[in-house]
Amino acid sequence: MSDELLGFLKSRRSIRRFKPDPIPDEVLLKILDVARYAPSARNSQPWAFIVVKDVEVKRKLAGIHPWAKPLESAPVGIVVACNSEVSHESYQVDCASATMQLMLAAHAVGLGSVWLQTLRNVKEIQEIVGLPNNYVPIAMLALGIPDESPTAKKRKELREIVYLNKYGSVFTH
Ligand SMILES: Cc1cc2nc3c(=O)[nH]c(=O)nc-3n(C[C@H](O)[C@H](O)[C@H](O)COP(=O)(O)O)c2cc1C
Repeated sequence: MSDELLGFLKSRRSIRRFKPDPIPDEVLLKILDVARYAPSARNSQPWAFIVVKDVEVKRKLAGIHPWAKPLESAPVGIVVACNSEVSHESYQVDCASATMQLMLAAHAVGLGSVWLQTLRNVKEIQEIVGLPNNYVPIAMLALGIPDESPTAKKRKELREIVYLNKYGSVFTH
């Protein structure tokens, strides 16, 4: 069972092409329910999730930079915004962990997603989805039924990234 679960975690891919089918709200709520179990500093849970279905709002978000285009064809976008005042040092990592948990939950129900960069377009995104200034968009996802099945991107070897006790010393086992 644990090998199966580990294999599942490794089988997630960024999906950038989607079928047009809408995603039922029950399914969206199911994966958002999982996302809120992500860890956060002092359990502060500084996140807010803006589910975007409106075609015009999606189009605006897809236009913030060339790599946000997958959002145009996705039936749903989700902006993960974080209250920077609740958790000054940790809000970005808190929301990154919630984003990752959301992507894995989506994968578990057969949906595909891709994380789209937001941090160079904070003001613009705040305006598009009506976020107050203290809510920073940490990530946004394009989400839907996958219409592609990409192979895994190459990963660095463990020996290149894992060390024992001190950076640079070989970890053997
Ligand atoms: C912080 C962050 C920003 C990213 N921004 C984009 C983006 O703007 N557009 C995009 O198509 N993919 C984006 N990605 C997805 C990465 O390109 C992708 O995760 C990486 O190539 C590894 O592929 P995989 O997710 O299929 O394993 C982003 C991922 C992260 C974590």
